[in-house]
Amino acid sequence: MVVSSAPGKVYLFGEHAVVYGEPAVPCAIELRARVAVEARDDDRIRVHAEDLSLNGFTVEYSDESDDAPDVDVSESLVRAGIEYIDAAVEQAREAAGRPDAGFDITIESEIPLGAGLGSSAAVTVAGIDAGTRELGVELPPEEIADRAYRAELEVQDGEASRADTFCSATGGAVRVEGDDCRAIDAPDLPFVIGFDGGAGDTGRLVAGVRALREEYDFAADTVAGIGDLVRSGEDALAAGDLDELGELMDFNHGLLEALGVSSRSLDAMVWAARDAGALGAKLTGAGGGGCIVALDPTDRTETALTFTPGCEDAFRAELDTDGVRVEDEEDVR
Ligand code: MEV
Repeated sequence: MVVSSAPGKVYLFGEHAVVYGEPAVPCAIELRARVAVEARDDDRIRVHAEDLSLNGFTVEYSDESDDAPDVDVSESLVRAGIEYIDAAVEQAREAAGRPDAGFDITIESEIPLGAGLGSSAAVTVAGIDAGTRELGVELPPEEIADRAYRAELEVQDGEASRADTFCSATGGAVRVEGDDCRAIDAPDLPFVIGFDGGAGDTGRLVAGVRALREEYDFAADTVAGIGDLVRSGEDALAAGDLDELGELMDFNHGLLEALGVSSRSLDAMVWAARDAGALGAKLTGAGGGGCIVALDPTDRTETALTFTPGCEDAFRAELDTDGVRVEDEEDVR
């Protein structure tokens, strides 16, 4: 059995616009998804997942279409989780040249599902790493990132950037612009996260931005404006200027709101953070619900979020410089 883990992330800048080739800066955070994989004697896949904000489910299935998962949670929720795992399994099988390999898979995640913290990317990245290692193949993080990106593309109907998967595979702060993905230096970033307990539908939100961008020139200009803002943000990051980073995060949230991907609870948390004196605050990830990220070296934002109606959880998140890694490897091959 092999257990691999990969981190979640927040977007300092650039979600959504990154889908159209603009730069983005996601940062890995110390919340991890752990995936344990054990090879089976047959070609079936058995998945056991807890703490995915799915009430936990166990499902046994094979590739045959009449073999529906036997579970007691809504099928769409199960499908959402399973599709990423399925795509990761396909990538692991292909990378190892073992198209019929079967696995028992156990997933534990500290990252709430669909909340903008990169849960699906972390599960996909850790799953590909553990799956290939279990089949005796060790892939470099860049290849795991590429395979995880292809898995996300498949699940999200061709609508995904490389940002989430690259960041989860390599850790740290990264810059992604189209196919160009690289690590960047970052000062100590005092992230505070507010979580409304909900989730957004990434596919639907990305499609909504695409439709707006096609219909209105000003929406296309807004997407391009996010790209300009990210380029300014990179200079602020290089200079270690937290005040300017915060100001640009505020701008970024405003532009995302104009694109229709914020929500009442995300806005409430952003304003609570700003009122508490955060240097800046914005939604993170696809939006629609889930998490905001604020920059505040003091305790004030975390405390204010705790008392904000609609905020279920508030916590500090440290930058995680480790990407995908093996947690435990037993030689059972
Ligand atoms: C989702 O975490 C981030 C988006 O930019 C989509 C993507 O980059 O694939 C909304």
